[in-house]
Amino acid sequence: MREYNFGAGRPDPSSFPSEELAKAAARVIAEHGTALVNYPDGSGYTGLREIAARRFERSEGQAVSLNEIVLTSGSMQAMQLITEAFAQPGETIIVEEHTYGGSLGVFRGRGVQMASAPIDGQGLIMDELEALLKRLTDAGTPPRFIYTIATHQNPTGSILPLERRKRLLELAKAYDTLVVDDHCYGDILFRSEPAPPTLYTLDTDDRVVYVASFSKILGPGVRLGYFMAPNDLQGRIMENKRDGGTNTLASMIVAEYFRDHLWEHISRINTIMKARKDAVVEGLATHFSDMAEEVWWTDPPGGLFVWVRMPDATDTKRAMALASERGVIYASGQGFSPANEDIPYLRIAYGFPSLEDIQDGVPILADCVKAAQRTAVAV
Ligand SMILES: Cc1ncc(COP(=O)(O)O)c(C=O)c1O
Repeated sequence: MREYNFGAGRPDPSSFPSEELAKAAARVIAEHGTALVNYPDGSGYTGLREIAARRFERSEGQAVSLNEIVLTSGSMQAMQLITEAFAQPGETIIVEEHTYGGSLGVFRGRGVQMASAPIDGQGLIMDELEALLKRLTDAGTPPRFIYTIATHQNPTGSILPLERRKRLLELAKAYDTLVVDDHCYGDILFRSEPAPPTLYTLDTDDRVVYVASFSKILGPGVRLGYFMAPNDLQGRIMENKRDGGTNTLASMIVAEYFRDHLWEHISRINTIMKARKDAVVEGLATHFSDMAEEVWWTDPPGGLFVWVRMPDATDTKRAMALASERGVIYASGQGFSPANEDIPYLRIAYGFPSLEDIQDGVPILADCVKAAQRTAVAV
């Protein structure tokens, strides 16, 4: 059976630079292979930290010191280390009302309490966040940090506007908490105007930890991510990194390739992603035109996802089972719910499927959602 895989947020397989990476690997192993007899430095291979610094400088217009950057095994390792450093089991953190399931898994694994902050089409709503901070503080359970995906949120794709970013930092200061900004999708941007400066750039009070990844611009299989943090916070995070260091071989190969190809590669994948995002949005508009009142979806300015609100009457499990029988895979809304609730949403990841898969798969998905209405006659 043909598969239409809208499940995980992965890049396009045909854009993976296999040949160039193979050449980069041959070069670095020939020239620097003997360095692999050593354990990596605590912060990881300098060459890749330089790429991370250049990446940040180019999009932020601001230099960052290499000392602030630590390579990790994917950004999920960074999330795990950060959570262990700042939140003890039973303590509270704030998360966005709908947010990345992988991070939710890390927080659950640590046994922390999650308080969810309402979001709208632009991300965290500051008055609501302030009220939540006050409630938690008054209740004697002040949040240890606020986890946000401020740029190209997963799953909604929203970008937190500059004014809200500034206010978020003011609130963090007022309530003496930290901000963990997951910048995983920062470079996957379709609109012409740049995203606002990151929270890390705007921070003047050493309260922000920035998390980034090479997974979404290259592939999760390379397992390379990183975090940036001011000195004191970095020291606390590093106390838990006891893995012998982040893979030098993978870091050397990726650094060798990105030294000359980073922006050209990002621009190529962004062109591909925009076409796919447009195809998803057009497909939804066409195939849900008869449910326009009850179904809505995001048209994101960047990132890898379209977030779809289904009617309240949707039997979400049935919709997913029907879709799976016809080869359509997507992520259920429940995976993005901090309380693990069955919510009438689904997420379409458009990085991995081809344009044809999107054009043929979205109508099937729409059919299955319609057939899963509790009031509908099954087809
Ligand atoms: C918001 C967010 N953070 C982190 C990750 C994990 O990235 P990595 O492969 O670098 O661990 C993902 C992957 O989907 C993500 O969506």
